[in-house]
Amino acid sequence: MQRTTSRAAALLAVGALGLSACATGGGETTEGSSSGSGSSSSAAEAYQPKEGGAGGDVGVFTWWAAGSEKKGLDALVAEYKKQYPNDTFVNLAVAGGAGSNAKAKLASDLKNDQPPGSFQGHAGAELTDYIAAGQIEPVNDVVDALGGDEVFPKDLLDRLSVEGSIYSVPSNIHRANVVWANPQVLKKAGINETPKDMKAWIADMEKVKKSGVENPLSIGGTWTQVQLFETVLLSDLGADGYSGLFDGTTKWDSDEVKTAVSDFKTLLSYANTASDGDDWPPATDAVVDGKAAYNVMGDWAVAQFDDRGAKEGEDYTYFPVPGTDGVFDFLADSFTLPRGTENPDGTKDWLMTVGSADGQKAFNLAKGSIPARTDVAMDDFPAYQQSAMEDFTSDTIVSSIAHGAAVPLAWSTDISTAVAKFSSSKDEATLVKELSAAAEKNA
Ligand code: BGC
Repeated sequence: MQRTTSRAAALLAVGALGLSACATGGGETTEGSSSGSGSSSSAAEAYQPKEGGAGGDVGVFTWWAAGSEKKGLDALVAEYKKQYPNDTFVNLAVAGGAGSNAKAKLASDLKNDQPPGSFQGHAGAELTDYIAAGQIEPVNDVVDALGGDEVFPKDLLDRLSVEGSIYSVPSNIHRANVVWANPQVLKKAGINETPKDMKAWIADMEKVKKSGVENPLSIGGTWTQVQLFETVLLSDLGADGYSGLFDGTTKWDSDEVKTAVSDFKTLLSYANTASDGDDWPPATDAVVDGKAAYNVMGDWAVAQFDDRGAKEGEDYTYFPVPGTDGVFDFLADSFTLPRGTENPDGTKDWLMTVGSADGQKAFNLAKGSIPARTDVAMDDFPAYQQSAMEDFTSDTIVSSIAHGAAVPLAWSTDISTAVAKFSSSKDEATLVKELSAAAEKNA
């Protein structure tokens, strides 16, 4: 996980994955309209916050309710209080990793015309749902005030935009295809090399099992398994084949997908059993506690390790999911301006903090992610994040399924339902059939 070239080049690759089926607001949908964003496309003038902030409550909805995620949010809120002391932050977080509980609550609040001040939404396909339903407003004036495409790569802004309107302010970029491993457990099993593909990784799982570890791989509830599955798809299909799953150029019933399903089944045979609601921290904890050798998790895991005082190299190590070296499975959190929110200027102050260099530094240092802005100094970050920044500059970028970047909510719900069923049935043919049906229905 070490690289060289510029971040701008990598973000061009992100742009190639820009919003593909986007709404113009009020329910009307247009195809292929990631048509430009950036500061100049909006007629709006740059937002000018009042000195000290607009005042009033700003309720912010996230799923960063506990542990290291809450610490990340707290770091951002501290910065917000510093920048806009007149405003009152109201924490509306709903617990449950990946928004597993939060998204349903948010959907119902939005439907009932009770929008929060701002909510967390993933860059990419997930945002299109809110845009299509006319539930969020453009924030070009805020992005302009923050420096527009001079500080946010234009191609990332394209993933937040429809026809020149930018619909959220990105706070961070996470990587999903990372294996976190326990070096002591690997040593005991006689494993000295990083596996290069699924086959080699599965052979190592067997070695770990033989060394006396009952469940070499730790998993959590359904979304963690969807994330594991997407990385297996990425490994077995390659970056182009994987990205083709979302534009119809790769068939969900192709031989490569069937191989991935079979590998996924094998991996699950080395994993603990998990119920749908099981969250991610116990799965990463199992690695540092030596109960498992491996866990596939986004790099929010590194914040959890720090929180526990775990040391890189001693208590944990990391590598790309075997077969995905050189590919960065991308997701980004971003914050919105909901239509009809009570204190829109307060919300814009919040967005100004989210998008500020100081806000991004404070938040990302605590969150394990890397800044979306390109002007935050890399040297200030610990080793893992520096390596992620380097990888992001040179790797091929693909979009995460489990975290809203690759497919809209309805499609990801269908995929999750199919994976949850598979987790108990282990019926490969049915999973392939249901994944194909989901693509047919939602693509
Ligand atoms: C979010 C991350 C979060 C993770 C686990 C992802 O969907 O983008 O910010 O840490 O879920 O909750």
